[in-house]
Amino acid sequence: MKRIFSGVQPTGNLHLGNYLGAIRNWVRLQSEFECLFCVVDMHAITVWQDPPELKRNIREVTAGMLAAGVDADKHVVFVQSAVPAHAQLAWIFNCVARIGWLNRMTQFKEKAGKNRENASVGLYAYPNLMSADILAYKATHVPVGEDQKQHLELARDTAAKFNNDYKVEFFPQPEPLIFGTAARVMSLRDGTRKMSKSDESDYSRINMTDDADTIALKVRKAKTDPEPLPDTLDALAARPEAANLVGIYAALSDQESAAVLATFAGRQFSEFKKDLTDMAVSVLGPINAEMKRLTADPAHIDAVLKRGAERADAIARPILAEVYDIVGFWRG
Ligand code: TYM
Repeated sequence: MKRIFSGVQPTGNLHLGNYLGAIRNWVRLQSEFECLFCVVDMHAITVWQDPPELKRNIREVTAGMLAAGVDADKHVVFVQSAVPAHAQLAWIFNCVARIGWLNRMTQFKEKAGKNRENASVGLYAYPNLMSADILAYKATHVPVGEDQKQHLELARDTAAKFNNDYKVEFFPQPEPLIFGTAARVMSLRDGTRKMSKSDESDYSRINMTDDADTIALKVRKAKTDPEPLPDTLDALAARPEAANLVGIYAALSDQESAAVLATFAGRQFSEFKKDLTDMAVSVLGPINAEMKRLTADPAHIDAVLKRGAERADAIARPILAEVYDIVGFWRG
């Protein structure tokens, strides 16, 4: 059986990186896999979240997923904290995964920064909760952006160690699915940093809630260099901001970067940016309009999430019961 699990944090607006790196691929994989798509609020609170804002963001991120084409009738769309198996299995994985493994996680180092002593214990144990998300459903495939690859390797190690420690063939080895040019969309202000919800500058990212004028402004202000577009991928690779904009255009138009260069080589960025804006607006405009329609009807979103939680719980509960037996927990 092929089952997908993937998640997104409700920590702010969804941006173009989330869309091209993850959600668009979720939509495309829906015809081939049984899918669970999760709004991971328990991961979100590993750094401080204002409670009313967290609730608002959960609905908004859900609306973004649905507007992008996630099918909540065929597949399971839900909020992590609504299904107890995530927390229950995460604790068991806290006792399976090793401190040395977590010490190697680059995302913790980046997020905790210099003041590690003051980071939450949750931020440190974050990857174990992610392993639990995936393995509570015995998911076999996990479509994500490049930045989640290391966490998935840890999930695979944890699954293997659990099986080995308890002498069972219980958890599968989940496969990461990471696709093409948009697996790592970079900041519009700095081509060496990834586009992120937590970047202070809103000009660093295109949000899925941005209207056409805002997209045009952000693309116009995006950092570039004075040279025209090159004609080879090698020449492009040496220019991170240029490479990022070409990569975004390629992903939005479903081409390879080389094909984009074949069309635009020798042209100035001022000209290319106009085409990029048009392309971004043509892809994001309809999603944006649908998001607006959905966010105006929170009762519908809540109903989707309620049903999703029930369906997710029905899958995870018997798996967790088996885990409890394997571990030797008392189940009454
Ligand atoms: P999150 O919320 O940071 O991002 C959601 C998805 O978007 C991808 N992504 C990007 N892809 C390309 N370029 C970017 N600049 C970019 N920024 C984000 C992420 O790779 C991700 O696929 N820990 C995860 C959520 C999570 C999860 C899981 C994912 C929790 N449990 C289990 C898969 C399976 C996260 O913080 O994603």
